Amino acid sequence: MKDIIKLIDIYKTYNSGKPNEFLALKGINMNIAEGELVGLIGVSGSGKSTILHIISCLDSYESGSCTYNGAELKDLTENQRNALRNKEISIILQDMSLIPDDTVYKNVRIPLMFNKDVPYKDVNKKTLDAIKLVGLNDNHIKRKITELSGGQKQRVAIAKALVSNPKVLLADEPTASLDKKSSNDIIELFKKINRDSGLTIVVVTHDPKVAEKCDRVIEISDGEIIKSNE
Ligand SMILES: Nc1ncnc2c1ncn2[C@@H]1O[C@H](COP(=O)(O)OP(=O)(O)O)[C@@H](O)[C@H]1O
Ligand SMILES: [Mg+2]
Repeated sequence: MKDIIKLIDIYKTYNSGKPNEFLALKGINMNIAEGELVGLIGVSGSGKSTILHIISCLDSYESGSCTYNGAELKDLTENQRNALRNKEISIILQDMSLIPDDTVYKNVRIPLMFNKDVPYKDVNKKTLDAIKLVGLNDNHIKRKITELSGGQKQRVAIAKALVSNPKVLLADEPTASLDKKSSNDIIELFKKINRDSGLTIVVVTHDPKVAEKCDRVIEISDGEIIKSNE
């Protein structure tokens, strides 16, 4: 399978030139192939979220190369980056970014409101399809986010991330706040979606139990990759 994402010698410094300057990534090399389910593992502060933010164009890098389908991300225009984020690479941030007082339906629908490629007549069906895909049912559609369990909230975040039919899903610690059973259910859901649709998925975790369910595990420590079982 061809590589869809390639990072070559990526360096990332936070607060560059300031007293609190911090070198978070120290020459990261990593390839993600199309259709892979990859686990990115490492302790807190090792640089996992920084990598996901770079891949999803939410953050920049000083040197090295990060490409998506051959396109260098830092050479893209703001419009191209936005298009990539809206249509190709979907990220579930660590806090899930759901609107707590809105319903499941309204939360999942949000990305379609910003996607000019989806005509309004298709919005309802696409929203309901995404909700169904993640294993939520008719009883959940009109519930508020505040009325859901942790595992159900994570499912809503996944539905929202998939409603625009992206090529790549990046999930930042999707099981961090979940108990063992819900955590296992979420990783099984990723496996099913990966298998059924060939969606490329990168799951960030600090839990070896979650990582070991992935096709491949990349381990990061202190801004460097220390293990990659490819
Ligand atoms: N906006 C920021 N400003 C300064 N330092 C940051 C910022 N974001 C992350 N860091 C630092 O960079 C390192 C890596 O952070 P992060 O990628 O969030 O790690 P992880 O997701 O593995 O816990 C940490 O030491 C963190 O404190
Ligand atoms: Mg993190």
